[in-house]
Amino acid sequence: MSTVRFLTGITTSGTPHLGNYVGSIRPAVQASLRPGVESYYFLADYHALIKIDEPARIQRSTLEIAASWLAAGLDPERVVFYRQSDIPEIPELTWFLTCVTGKGILNRAHAYKASVDKNTAAGTDPDTDVSAGLFMYPVLMGADILMFNAHHVPVGRDQVQHIEMARDMAHSFNHRYGEHFVAPQAAIEESVATLPGLDGRKMSKSYDNTIPLFASSAQLQKLIANIKTDSRAPGEPKDTEGSALFQIYQAFASPQETAAFAQEFAQGISWAAAKERLHARIDQEIAPMRARYQHLMEHPQEVEALLLQGAIKARAVATPFMARLRQAVGLRSLAAQSTGGPAKAAKAASVAFKQYRESDGQFYFKLLDAKGALLLQSTGFANPKEAAQVMGQLKAGGASALPACQAFIASVADAAALDEALESLRAQAN
Ligand code: TRP
Repeated sequence: MSTVRFLTGITTSGTPHLGNYVGSIRPAVQASLRPGVESYYFLADYHALIKIDEPARIQRSTLEIAASWLAAGLDPERVVFYRQSDIPEIPELTWFLTCVTGKGILNRAHAYKASVDKNTAAGTDPDTDVSAGLFMYPVLMGADILMFNAHHVPVGRDQVQHIEMARDMAHSFNHRYGEHFVAPQAAIEESVATLPGLDGRKMSKSYDNTIPLFASSAQLQKLIANIKTDSRAPGEPKDTEGSALFQIYQAFASPQETAAFAQEFAQGISWAAAKERLHARIDQEIAPMRARYQHLMEHPQEVEALLLQGAIKARAVATPFMARLRQAVGLRSLAAQSTGGPAKAAKAASVAFKQYRESDGQFYFKLLDAKGALLLQSTGFANPKEAAQVMGQLKAGGASALPACQAFIASVADAAALDEALESLRAQAN
């Protein structure tokens, strides 16, 4: 019955390439179609500010990435697809988490440490060119994840440490303020291969070896012509092992097609023909999406409208949750000030009876545990006084009063938990 929440962010700092498509866009779109899954996918534009100080590039990348995901089949009706900077609760939560995160933990974050190590090796000040944004990056990412209480976070290996940090933040916060956050888990797709680029190294913007996802068919052909191969002549058998061309083909083809291609390698297919084959296979998958991509790129207002719709959905979760968190940490309306001080506040978060009237006109009570889960449900009473009497009996007598009250109990969720809760109430009453 309970849904599993997946969440992932895409930093808006570049143009999507085939590696992004195979490694992240395609599996995420597929995952979002599974039943019982609630997906949150967002454009991490606050994150982009850490690396990029060219406003036009951020804007352009945001549009390209959004259009790519939509063209690849992401259904904004089915998933919550939004832009991070449309959710003001995220920077607010970032601050809450900043205050429960040890500075020492952040010192150990890979991205920050890599910069420090580089500076140290160069003999300069360790923090040269390191912004506080880079240092704080894991906390912003923690807020992205915890804001929606995501269970699973699909990411690459390089991001696993950040998910572990988000778990730590969830625990530190819960420890201080009660159970508010779910501890997230990294979801690494073992079956998704990293795609090699034109030069055979991992396809990555930093190696300048990428093939843009929405290159035109002609551009695609030109880029594929640049894929590094060995010098074997037509007719000579070729190795599939270590061939970037073969690996890219495999990422798009079925196992049967891949086996047939391997056969052709063994039979000495020319590199030119193999490249022709790869071009056709990629084009078969991407060409149908290109028209939608072009349309969205030419109508950015449509993308904008979809993202704003997504933000409304995201904020329907984030706004009330943030209100609860503000309450939890003590950022509260003074008008609602309780005069009882800390002891009373602690009691508010513990086991409690709730009395209410149903539409049948009868009076009921229930007992809730500290997290608000139902422990006991009463039968209906003709008047509130009778209900109060039974509650009073349970409060004063604890678990030992249960047998005498049996006739007024409609249901019990967990007998052991109920006993424990009643005992704690009795201890408080005395
Ligand atoms: N930092 C991630 C990356 O560089 C992007 C990201 C930002 C993210 N916030 C996130 C990923 C939250 C998963 C969950 O790839």
